[in-house]
Amino acid sequence: MKKIIIAIDGYSSTGKSTIAKRLAKALDYVYVDTGAMYRAVTLFALKEGFFGEKVDDASSLIEHLPNIQLKFVRDAKLGTCDMYLNDENVEKDIRTLTVARKVSQVAAIKEVREKLVHLQQQMGIEKGIVMDGRDIGTVVFPDAELKIFMTASPETRATRRYKELLDRGDKVTYEEVLKNIEKRDLIDSTRSVSPLRRANDAIEFDNSDMGLEEQFERIFSFAQRVIDKS
Ligand code: DC
Repeated sequence: MKKIIIAIDGYSSTGKSTIAKRLAKALDYVYVDTGAMYRAVTLFALKEGFFGEKVDDASSLIEHLPNIQLKFVRDAKLGTCDMYLNDENVEKDIRTLTVARKVSQVAAIKEVREKLVHLQQQMGIEKGIVMDGRDIGTVVFPDAELKIFMTASPETRATRRYKELLDRGDKVTYEEVLKNIEKRDLIDSTRSVSPLRRANDAIEFDNSDMGLEEQFERIFSFAQRVIDKS
């Protein structure tokens, strides 16, 4: 059966990765979380002191981009896929609010996007991929056979994210999380390079009032329809 590319874009914390992961598993496709790549570059910038509470030194980060090596390592036994930055497993470190606070600024840098988009396009060369992010259907794979654009109200997303962060042991308040989500929405959708927007041919999917099972079933059936036709 012909393999396709499935692009899942949308706002922060709309549950893209949960659905994308499940879809990839059901179809036996590769799953790529592009947000993890932007988060890993942000972690690098924070560690090197290029970005921080009082610094935003994009030119130093751009200069050091060649020193950043990113890869996903799959653990077949656990069924997980962890992000590695220069051979170090950073899967946990990239999910903190400290990284979330800076990632939109880093993701707005043209040179960062060029590097990551190139890597992402290489990952999709053989198709059979489910990729989630903000610009997958518009920039990375404008010819993707199936494009989904996920949305949900900021409050629904903040509640989901807040629970996730608490489960991880992060000490945050709901208000902080909501503020971060609203701020990221604004930066992600108004930046000059590849702003977050729905591709004209993407299916808009609002999951504010939908459980996981229903979301998965609907999106899986979209995928099956496209695969059957291609
Ligand atoms: O999906 P996420 O919340 O882990 O993404 C983290 C940030 O990375 C998000 O604020 C926007 C940015 N991002 C992007 O600009 N383009 C992508 N393809 C994926 C993420």
